[in-house]
Amino acid sequence: MRILVTADLHYDIGRSRGPAVELAGKACAMGGDAIVLVGDCAGADLKLLRECLGLFDSFSGGKFLVPGNHCLWRFDGESSMDRYERLVPQVAADAGWEVLDRRPAVMGDLGLVGSIGWYDYGFADEALGVPLDFYRAKVAPGAAAYLGGYEDMLRLHEGSLTAKQMAIGARWMDGVHVDLGMSDEAFTGLLCERLGAQLRQTATKVRRVAAFVHHLPFGELVPAQRPARFAFAAAFMGSAAIGRTLAACPSVTHVYCGHSHWPDRRRIGAIEAINVGSTYIAKRLEVLELGD
Ligand SMILES: [Fe+2]
Ligand SMILES: [Fe+2]
Repeated sequence: MRILVTADLHYDIGRSRGPAVELAGKACAMGGDAIVLVGDCAGADLKLLRECLGLFDSFSGGKFLVPGNHCLWRFDGESSMDRYERLVPQVAADAGWEVLDRRPAVMGDLGLVGSIGWYDYGFADEALGVPLDFYRAKVAPGAAAYLGGYEDMLRLHEGSLTAKQMAIGARWMDGVHVDLGMSDEAFTGLLCERLGAQLRQTATKVRRVAAFVHHLPFGELVPAQRPARFAFAAAFMGSAAIGRTLAACPSVTHVYCGHSHWPDRRRIGAIEAINVGSTYIAKRLEVLELGD
């Protein structure tokens, strides 16, 4: 059995579109029993998501996706949860794709489970010492100062913020574009429950399970060698709670993720963990070949 896996096509971003089209052509020519897109196909414009999925029309195997955080970016007045639970699955179904977050799949003796995954700030870079309030607001202290509107939070931490922390001007744009209607920690908890239920439902029917999660489920996959300005972003890379949910199911043999745009592959306990690692300009295709 051959499963093709890619992630972070970001079809809505100009410089990313050509490489996404090229990757899709390559996947269709290669063929396989299934293809899985592990999040961030496109942004707020659902027409572009539909177009992106259409690039794989000639792929004859099963087509599965999990949304990424960019798929939850919404226009004013929209709800990100509505996009996650209804609008994105609707567009996917219209294009002949299934969203794994909604329903796991069984192909022979292989189970496929999936989740967008999310973040609970557990991967925050401790060396920065940035207070949790800033992660919840998705702005670093320096950005909070120059953007304005965060005066109360800055006042609360006045005296304890260092010059080094005030020099961090980064922000995480989900803070502007995503509205879940609940905290990131609560959403991560909800996703763990759903993923656990998928695993209980699937594991007894199959010999092994492959999981597809957009955000990183293991701290080991958080890029360590990136420039300092990325250090603030570590908090938004993923959640170890998702990883623990996966590792608790002995049938899980492979876990694929995306999101960090940083390719990686390592063994974590009994699990082969792979970050596809597509960037905006260079897309990567992973192939999972399983024999009997
Ligand atoms: Fe991405
Ligand atoms: Fe992402």
